[in-house]
Amino acid sequence: MKKRDSPLTIPFSFAILLPISLLLPSSISSQPPEATPWPPQFHSILAINSSKGHLHVTDLWYDWPNGRNFNIIQHQLGKKVYDLEWDNGTSYYYTLDENQECTTRHFPVGILRPNWLDAAEYVGQAVIDGFRCNVWKKVDFITYYEDVATKRPVSWAFSTGTAAHVITFEVGKVLDDPNWQAPVYCFQKNRSMTQSTWSLMRQISSATLVI
Ligand SMILES: *[C@@H]1O[C@H](CO)[C@@H](O)[C@H](O)[C@H]1NC(C)=O
Ligand SMILES: *[C@@H]1O[C@H](CO)[C@@H](O)[C@H](O)[C@H]1NC(C)=O
Ligand SMILES: *[C@@H]1O[C@H](CO)[C@@H](O)[C@H](O)[C@H]1NC(C)=O
Repeated sequence: MKKRDSPLTIPFSFAILLPISLLLPSSISSQPPEATPWPPQFHSILAINSSKGHLHVTDLWYDWPNGRNFNIIQHQLGKKVYDLEWDNGTSYYYTLDENQECTTRHFPVGILRPNWLDAAEYVGQAVIDGFRCNVWKKVDFITYYEDVATKRPVSWAFSTGTAAHVITFEVGKVLDDPNWQAPVYCFQKNRSMTQSTWSLMRQISSATLVI
């Protein structure tokens, strides 16, 4: 007797779903565009102008499947700083020179999710660095520019005034494992270094994802 019930439920649910699916195409076209999620793995060279007008070049190695993210930051005619983040919340921020500086931090959140731009607010189109972009804002902290034609990120700017410009964007490129080892002095001392904008970005954007 019980078995006879289930075939009946199928046409019933179709009857409900059909009108909804007929409505979908029109409601989708009126939705604002959504930012393309980050590819799970990529390498990017970023030119960054800090809020103080200092320039640096960052090698960004985003590696979501392995739970790690690396920013190798070369300041103009200055220090090279390694900002290595693990998804378990630990970050190492160090130099590889004779000063042997290293700061270890523990964040309550992991690295940026590929979909960290979900729920960002679409604010329209703009031309930046010569590319026509869709633009989103996330919690008034980051403005994110994505090329309309290729859907690649072109730039993002922090409310502090720091702006990153994407110079290369190599999808699927992964940095070899030995490079992901923080130096031994990170595990011996805890000399303090100033926090990078990137760490701040991670904290703020991840915090909002939890909400
Ligand atoms: C960097 O930012 C400063 C301050 O906003 C600006 O004066 C300067 O022209 C910028 N430099 C570059 C190379 O974009
Ligand atoms: C997180 O992972 C890194 C790399 O494997 C490791 O060095 C660090 O100690 C870990 N942190 C915690 C809190 O387990
Ligand atoms: C490391 O940090 C701890 C706690 O903040 C402090 O007590 C200790 O003196 C520091 N060690 C070094 C080598 O700076």
